[in-house]
Amino acid sequence: MSMSIAGKVVVITGASSGVGEASARLLSSQGATLVLGARRVERIQALADELAEKGGKALAIATDVTEYAQVKHLVDSAVKTYGRVDVMLNNAGVMPHSLLERLKVEDWERMIDVNLKGVLYGIAAVLPHMKEQKSGHIINTSSVAGHKVRPGSAVYAATKTAVRVISEGLRQEVKSYNIRTTVISPGAMKTELADSITEPDVAEGVRKFTDMIGVSADTFANVVSFAISQPQDVDINEILFRPTKQEL
Ligand SMILES: NC(=O)c1ccc[n+]([C@@H]2O[C@H](COP(=O)([O-])OP(=O)(O)OC[C@H]3O[C@@H](n4cnc5c(N)ncnc54)[C@H](OP(=O)(O)O)[C@@H]3O)[C@@H](O)[C@H]2O)c1
Repeated sequence: MSMSIAGKVVVITGASSGVGEASARLLSSQGATLVLGARRVERIQALADELAEKGGKALAIATDVTEYAQVKHLVDSAVKTYGRVDVMLNNAGVMPHSLLERLKVEDWERMIDVNLKGVLYGIAAVLPHMKEQKSGHIINTSSVAGHKVRPGSAVYAATKTAVRVISEGLRQEVKSYNIRTTVISPGAMKTELADSITEPDVAEGVRKFTDMIGVSADTFANVVSFAISQPQDVDINEILFRPTKQEL
């Protein structure tokens, strides 16, 4: 139990696996109330049930972040059920890497819709509530790819760079409402992210790399917990971390 996290209402998109799920588990163990969003509703419902069995409070809401109305419904459900929203973790993401010359136009659109527009929809959904509360914390998931680009990662890196830029603009705009903003840029972690890659040869390469050097999703959860648990007058704006073995 953490005094600065206990009782906070935390909404997480992409809570059905990977770092969203790990963050939900850790924050629940620290006393937060969780509102879980993802498309695979059976997964987030099972997670909510598990957290409740352990004495936590959690709600699961089927959410596709590419639909603004669904993201708004997720956040509005948090406020309706628990009276407020203290933290929004805009985390849902996909990473269908491939060289641009393969012309995977649908993958490009999906990355823009989920990684970029999904984050904007999350911001739009919480801002009115947080402005009214005169408090809140918006955490966006970027990536090392928001700092570096490589062959095959151009569109993904573009969306993650955009998340960093939007987070910095947001930081400056919401100061007067007492809203904190954090952008987290993780390196390789062992999650299901490679499943979103549609080119089999690329997926195999990414899986090998992640299996070799990726760190646990709990690493990300610890960073989220660190940012939230700071005193209210401390705003952790950016965190970039990598596995010790990761070069780029
Ligand atoms: N793993 C890494 O090495 C790494 C490194 C840097 C950054 N990241 C970032 O970390 C975030 C989480 O990824 P992860 O590594 O935890 O991968 P993951 O295990 O594949 O989790 C991705 C999550 O995003 C959700 N999602 C995907 N499309 C969605 C949509 N349209 N609407 C709602 N939710 C959607 C998935 O839920 P459903 O499929 O159930 O909807 C899932 O919960 C992403 O933003 C990713 O870019 C990961």
